[in-house]
Amino acid sequence: MAAIGTVVATADSPSLDNIVLILDKNDQLQVERGQFVTIPKNKKQIVIGIITGIKKNNAYYETLDSSIHEIASRNYDAIFPIEEWENTLAVVKPLGEINLESGSIKRLKYPVSPGTKIFVASSSVVSRFLGLDQNGIYWGDLASNNVKIQINLSRLLRKHLAILAISGAGKSYAASILLEEIYKHGKLAVLVIDPHGEYSKIVPSMADDTRIEVVKGSFISIGVPELSAWEISEFIPEISVVQTRVLDNVISEIRRENKNLYGIQDLIRKIETSDTINTRTREALIGWLYSLHRSYLFSTESSPNLSELFYPGKIVILDLSEIQNQRSRSIVVLHFLKCLYNLRMRGNIPPSLFVVEEAHQFCPESSRSISKRIIETIAREGRKFYASLCLISQRPVNLSVTAISQCNTNLILRIRNPYDQDFIGRISEGIDRSTLKIIPDLEVGEALLVGEGINYPTFFQIRSRSFYNRETSPNLEIMAEKYEKNWHIKNKPV
Ligand SMILES: Nc1ncnc2c1ncn2[C@@H]1O[C@H](COP(=O)(O)OP(=O)(O)OP(=O)(O)O)[C@@H](O)[C@H]1O
Ligand SMILES: [Mg+2]
Repeated sequence: MAAIGTVVATADSPSLDNIVLILDKNDQLQVERGQFVTIPKNKKQIVIGIITGIKKNNAYYETLDSSIHEIASRNYDAIFPIEEWENTLAVVKPLGEINLESGSIKRLKYPVSPGTKIFVASSSVVSRFLGLDQNGIYWGDLASNNVKIQINLSRLLRKHLAILAISGAGKSYAASILLEEIYKHGKLAVLVIDPHGEYSKIVPSMADDTRIEVVKGSFISIGVPELSAWEISEFIPEISVVQTRVLDNVISEIRRENKNLYGIQDLIRKIETSDTINTRTREALIGWLYSLHRSYLFSTESSPNLSELFYPGKIVILDLSEIQNQRSRSIVVLHFLKCLYNLRMRGNIPPSLFVVEEAHQFCPESSRSISKRIIETIAREGRKFYASLCLISQRPVNLSVTAISQCNTNLILRIRNPYDQDFIGRISEGIDRSTLKIIPDLEVGEALLVGEGINYPTFFQIRSRSFYNRETSPNLEIMAEKYEKNWHIKNKPV
């Protein structure tokens, strides 16, 4: 393989942190920021580094300082080969020293020598350096090194994952690639909490497959007889321990009467007719229970049966788009996650991944949400039970710090808000300033993977979907056309 350039001696290069190289003129075009390069040290060792910047210089213009405009206008290029004096320099950050015999990677102890040749790192060297896994999740490509970004599934999910970016940067698309790969793997169970009903649209080519099931919010019911007073109290953040105890007595009384099928209204009736409950508690309990009743989510029996819904390779999409109220959505999310987590802890469902879209709404940092506690619990303890989270959010600063700090791998797409950028810098170990600076300029589908899942923060292009093929968000004109067509049908004169 031909060298791309030669290490030059400047005031601060080559050092342990910085190597400047002058690029070979023929090879300039194949050099990119974010590309991995290697520098042979001796027969046994090579230095691996990453290109962090590219700049041009020309000694002719360097010396002209203030009179540059005047002299440039005199057309000296006829006399001097000025164009030939132009050089492209690349700045490389050395990352480590690879022992080619043992494969071990160590920190650099001595700088490389000026005059050493630099090469584009081969895909096998980069894969080894990044800790990629040929059988792992194929998420995308690092084109400049011809490397497939394949991440070991256990490394990626054991300590939870977060996908963070502004709206429209490609979070759901990146998540759908992950689903595709888990689908192919076929052994995990996945629940996708889908507030906008997007995922039922991006899985059309597999819609007939029984391993993919869309559960619509409007078909969900939570069986009241299956809930203890303490479990009901989780749906009512304002309730006190004393009030929960009163509710517990009411439930015991109903159960003593041998009533096996009862709903929220039965509880309300029992409280209304009880003469042992004081007025304030009675009114408070009735108010809260009435608001649960009005959510139309509670019934005498649960549906669907969650213990039968999940088996190896199954992907369940919980489509909440028909439920407008955020409190009701959080009730459903709490119900699903709690039941599934309990089933997982008892080993009754396979190792599972819970994908939470709009995670800042279900697990916010500074406001209340009924589903917050269960998400934080899974974030803290899920690892022990092989229950993993994938939190997806466009507002990482609003996400529970407890939950996001447990996501040890982050996939970051474009982020513009400076607060969110700062936050990313704080939560993602190993991201330096120069890496953070690139995040606002990423294009749709370009991502940075950082954390446990990969040995070094790496920018790559998310791959195209192979199964899922329908556009997630049709453009405005198509939507307007569709609406107009339906409108004409509905308003056709009879
Ligand atoms: N890697 C990619 N390759 C091709 N198209 C992509 C890619 N990523 C995203 N897109 C396209 O960009 C658009 C927005 O992507 P997506 O819906 O995934 O964004 P998002 O970050 O989830 O947005 P939101 O926050 O609004 O949910 C979609 O039309 C999608 O098809
Ligand atoms: Mg999305």
